[in-house]
Amino acid sequence: MTPIFKQFRNYRRLSIEERREMLQAMKHYSVFPPVLSDEIADQMIENFTCNYQLPLGIAGDFVINDKDYLVPMVTEEPSVIAAAQAGARRIGNIVVSLDRKELIGQVVLSDVESLRDALEIINTHEDELLELAKNFSPSMVKRGGGPVKIWADTKHDSIGDFLVVYVSFDAQDAMGANALNTILEGISPRIQQLVQGSSLMSILSNYTEESVVKGRVEIPLIQLHRNQKRALGIARQIEKASRFSCLDVYRATTHNKGIMNGIDAVVVATGNDWRAVEAGAHAYASRSGNYQPLTLWQVSDDEKFLIGTIELPINVGTVGGTLAVHPVAQWSLELLGNPNSQELAEIIAAVGLAQNFSAVRALVTDGIQKGHMSLQARSLSLQVGATVEEVPRLVRRLRLEPQMNQESARRFLEEIRHEQ
Ligand code: MEV
Repeated sequence: MTPIFKQFRNYRRLSIEERREMLQAMKHYSVFPPVLSDEIADQMIENFTCNYQLPLGIAGDFVINDKDYLVPMVTEEPSVIAAAQAGARRIGNIVVSLDRKELIGQVVLSDVESLRDALEIINTHEDELLELAKNFSPSMVKRGGGPVKIWADTKHDSIGDFLVVYVSFDAQDAMGANALNTILEGISPRIQQLVQGSSLMSILSNYTEESVVKGRVEIPLIQLHRNQKRALGIARQIEKASRFSCLDVYRATTHNKGIMNGIDAVVVATGNDWRAVEAGAHAYASRSGNYQPLTLWQVSDDEKFLIGTIELPINVGTVGGTLAVHPVAQWSLELLGNPNSQELAEIIAAVGLAQNFSAVRALVTDGIQKGHMSLQARSLSLQVGATVEEVPRLVRRLRLEPQMNQESARRFLEEIRHEQ
């Protein structure tokens, strides 16, 4: 175990103050903890009234492409961070890669006189349109990115036909939505002129199939259980659960929800657009026409490893946009070692895989409720009005109950108060 993880192992047991001191000692932040001020928030959205706060926690034990990470996660759901960390600890090094990070945008035209001619025209004017597109993105081009390719396709419907001109775009370390939308709106008039059609819309797509992250783990079965036979049994159950999620949309949706528990938590922590990542992930899960799981698990032929893979599009940024002004997002990126956008996408996919491993392992072994017991007890305690000092005692009492609910929580709380 590396020193940073060894130090972090105790994190959960420390008081909030002690945790903050520990992080300060590790990284020496100038301002800690970071806070989103009213003044900055007021610049971010319209009619700003107050900040809606969500907890940010840290998952340790992540080894991704042989590098150690402490991962910031924003979530309101108990057990997500504990499960991510436990998953990371068991699965070891996660090998992830994002080979290419490009966005796709579209200029959609209707009432085009001849679609066949229009396709030909776009084809022959690709260089001109590409140059024009570059003129709308000079700073990105200067940084080595910008528009990469332009091509066209047609779509047909009973209310009419459409010509779609696609632009692929290298946003470097930015998320790139604004830059690409500017380009699309910029080149639209010239396209309309060329093909004699009218523009319906110009907008980027959140289906970022040119930014697909692929991850893989090979978990020695010994990590699943000390007993070899039991370990193989668990691995086979995980494999079966994975196969089942390919067959059943009810399960596939929940399976993917569990993956997104981890993915969204890091996307939010780093100030990225989680709706965009969500939309792209689910579109990708449906690309065959059947909604499918985004991860797969299988036992190796020699029965020595459980092999897990994840594959989904992730387009995130590490510069510009919200994250440039949100102090917590900036802090999160710093905690991750200021990754570039490719590395951040890889980290996010790795967290999704670890999260999914933990969920499926729990489902096919103890069931999901057992691991949730103390967190559920804590949440129930707060719901019935226990003070921070009363919570630990009430949790201990509740955990002895076969069925914990608000009624028993209220009853025990009264008893505890009576005893004092
Ligand atoms: C709960 O937020 C997520 C799970 O339902 C995921 C899964 O079933 O795989 C536990």
